[in-house]
Amino acid sequence: MSRMASRVASLGTTIFAEMTALATAKGALNLGQGAPDFNPPPEVMTWAQEALQTPCHQYAHGWGYPEVRSAIVEHARHFYGQTLDPQREVLVTNGATEGIFAAMQGLVEAGDEVILLEPFYDSYLAGVLMAGGVPRFVPLHAPTWTFDPQELRAAFSPRTKLILLNTPHNPTGKVFSRAELQFIADLCQEFDVLALSDEVYEHIVFEGAQHVRLATLDGMAERTLTLSSLGKTFSVTGWKIGWALGSADLVSAVNRAKQYISYASASVLQWAAVAILNWTPHYVPALQAMYSAKRDLLLSALQASPLIPSPPQGTYFIMADTSALKCADDRAFAAWLVEAVGVACIPPSAFYNAAHRSLAQNWARFGFCKTDETLHAAAHRLERLTHLA
Ligand SMILES: Cc1ncc(COP(=O)(O)O)c(C=O)c1O
Repeated sequence: MSRMASRVASLGTTIFAEMTALATAKGALNLGQGAPDFNPPPEVMTWAQEALQTPCHQYAHGWGYPEVRSAIVEHARHFYGQTLDPQREVLVTNGATEGIFAAMQGLVEAGDEVILLEPFYDSYLAGVLMAGGVPRFVPLHAPTWTFDPQELRAAFSPRTKLILLNTPHNPTGKVFSRAELQFIADLCQEFDVLALSDEVYEHIVFEGAQHVRLATLDGMAERTLTLSSLGKTFSVTGWKIGWALGSADLVSAVNRAKQYISYASASVLQWAAVAILNWTPHYVPALQAMYSAKRDLLLSALQASPLIPSPPQGTYFIMADTSALKCADDRAFAAWLVEAVGVACIPPSAFYNAAHRSLAQNWARFGFCKTDETLHAAAHRLERLTHLA
């Protein structure tokens, strides 16, 4: 009999580990996992090497070194005009992932309802369930991935504690518009609900789209916890340097949990983060140019195939409709694609509650955070799909 606690027994293993293992075993090109297969910019590598030479090898301050917190506050001022207190309104976390878990532990009482927009990043549901929260699901509708205002309103009730939002959005590539965010902000205020806004792709947005920070909408500063991290912007997903921003009471609730989860975050990488964060305004144009070229490469390969991609407004993912290939569901398609053409994707049903997985049955998520060489090779392999549809 398994000795696993019931709180984790139902969670299963993540689809990323499963698809990466399959891709490796079969020698497929892995467009599944959302991690770059290239190094960070040379400046970032240099600052990491310099940080290693500084005397910062013991536990960092639990909230993060003051220098990093000041750099995060300056980043939020520069890009969003926010004014935050670096002493009380910023917490350094082990990636946004720890921020999500600690926020759920710190803010959600057992029995509180938490609204999740489907598809959602898979750690959200696990975080809600481990905190004893009750998830309420609201689908985003393909192909534009908008929510139905009536469906969203119906999910709010006096039992709702929090809504979890992600913009730019993984896996759909959607960037929520100001009007959509305003609708959510109005509901939060009407029902006295908190918002957790996961903005890890904040700098990966494409022409025509603008990333709006929910916390900057009227009345939202006090009730929004914003999470982000270095991983996606600087191609350092393994560093796990993230942060939580918000009013002092929200951030201190997150820290109450964080102090007993990890206590502090990696000291050397925090030192490196100071220079990196200060460099962000100079780097963002190059980052956006790099990812818009990679998006074009993968998008045209998918458009030339029997798949129907939804062009993303942000992130480094493309969702594609797989109906033409007539597979039983998205997991079957992902497994078949590895075998048939040697390309791995993620079946997005992993981002849905069990009851709603059928919404994902004809979709696949492809990542373009890969070298141009990998993307060209994948494009070449995807050409074979034309003969298989
Ligand atoms: C929406 C979203 N949130 C959070 C994360 C994880 O962020 P971090 O690596 O900073 O923990 C990811 C990573 O894929 C993500 O897609």
